[in-house]
Amino acid sequence: MTRGRIELGDVTPHNIKQLKRLNQVVFPVSYNDKFYKDVLEAGELAKLAYYNDIVVGAVCCRIDNSENSRKLYIMTLGCLAPYRRLGIGTKMVEHVLNFVGKDGNFDTIFLHVQINNESAIQFYRKFGFEVVETKQHYYKRIEPADAHVLQKTLRIPVPKEIVTNGEADKKGSS
Ligand SMILES: CC(C)(COP(=O)(O)OP(=O)(O)OC[C@H]1O[C@@H](n2cnc3c(N)ncnc32)[C@H](O)[C@@H]1OP(=O)(O)O)[C@@H](O)C(=O)NCCC(=O)NCCS
Repeated sequence: MTRGRIELGDVTPHNIKQLKRLNQVVFPVSYNDKFYKDVLEAGELAKLAYYNDIVVGAVCCRIDNSENSRKLYIMTLGCLAPYRRLGIGTKMVEHVLNFVGKDGNFDTIFLHVQINNESAIQFYRKFGFEVVETKQHYYKRIEPADAHVLQKTLRIPVPKEIVTNGEADKKGSS
């Protein structure tokens, strides 16, 4: 089979119902109105994926500024089952990696996956993500309830002392 055309497009009030439908079909977890309200404001952090002009996937992220670091959190990234292994997930991850690359100010990208989601774990490993933590009872209404945290490190945080010493050196040499 020849591969079709994969494109990403904005999420707008006009097509947000397609995103809701897609997420309902692809994920075992449901997302509330606040999620979709925020997605409409997310700009490049939320995209629909089209395969030959049909919506078949979507990615939704948000910026997380907790714990003194700036992280990109992938809330959802999914593709309809019949359209998997065609490069659609790759196109969405590449978009996210491009976004953080251009911004240049993120420490990590992370997400949660159900511990039995082998395909997603394999998929993210390909892009340099690693399991950094496993959270028990992370999900409330699905089994297994445990989640792995998958993370890709973009830059190693510099310990405060080194920054301080660097400043001292600069002053000393001027
Ligand atoms: C994970 C997911 C997004 C991958 O999307 P996709 O469009 O199939 O991914 P791609 O076609 O770009 O795959 C890229 C590579 O990832 C790896 N990969 C993807 N699915 C895989 C699977 N089921 N088993 C093993 N490796 C897999 C392969 O190396 C693949 O390259 P290849 O097809 O040339 O071998 C898709 O399976 C999905 O939507 N799953 C349900 C939603 C979900 O769990 N999302 C993750 C949590 S946000």
